Amino acid sequence: MKKIGFIETQNLTKIYDRNTQALSNVSISLEKGDWTSIIGPSGSGKTTLLNLISCLDKPTKGEIMIDGIIVSNLDLSRLTKFRRENFGLIFQHHYLVPYLSAVENVMLAMYYHSTVDENKAVKALEKVGLNHRLNHKPSKLSGGEQQRVCIARALINNPQILMADEPTGNLDQKNGCKVLDLIKQLHEEGHTILLVTHNMEIARLGNRILQIIDGKVTNNHQTYGE
Ligand SMILES: Nc1ncnc2c1ncn2[C@@H]1O[C@H](COP(=O)(O)OP(=O)(O)OP(=O)(O)O)[C@@H](O)[C@H]1O
Ligand SMILES: [Mg+2]
Repeated sequence: MKKIGFIETQNLTKIYDRNTQALSNVSISLEKGDWTSIIGPSGSGKTTLLNLISCLDKPTKGEIMIDGIIVSNLDLSRLTKFRRENFGLIFQHHYLVPYLSAVENVMLAMYYHSTVDENKAVKALEKVGLNHRLNHKPSKLSGGEQQRVCIARALINNPQILMADEPTGNLDQKNGCKVLDLIKQLHEEGHTILLVTHNMEIARLGNRILQIIDGKVTNNHQTYGE
């Protein structure tokens, strides 16, 4: 019998409108603890794939199974619970609440776990080098600083699955390394990582590289940490 992966998709297809088929029949199987780097040209469907796996969007066709659960079968309240218990998301475009400070934005993620702890939020922001910007609103932060608040927010609940879309795209080398070190640490602790990047050096940090071109998986191989 075929072994079922920890994250499995079958014939995943997303058509946004009649002319845009963003994903075509993507069937992948990822193991628990894998770090899968997703590469491919701009517009090839990488963000679409992450949005579907993280259940932010629904496929036009196909199925997603995570940890043995077909997520499309969950009703909204179960899905919300499943997402907050399993996923940490770092978006390509940061989504911060504009009228809350950095520390309050991070506490918001914890709120969903009903443990609002300011100290924990402060520590998470310190880890991404933002201890001097705790009370700034997003409009008073640079693009890279906003991205680091999102990263702190994604990591605070110690998510079983971290999905990151170009997490170092807006960062300088020093802060990019800091973020990659945090992701490496999560991977070493056994968390499952899906990371979209245009940078091959970063892609190779993963143990698996998935290439998407024109909405299709064109390469899916183990890197063996080469
Ligand atoms: N909400 C949407 N409505 C219509 N078309 C969309 C939508 N989101 C994405 N697309 C289209 O779907 C295709 C895949 O987009 P996607 O954002 O997944 O690409 P990507 O690989 O993440 O690209 P990038 O590297 O530029 O971020 C593109 O052609 C894009 O224009
Ligand atoms: Mg994208």
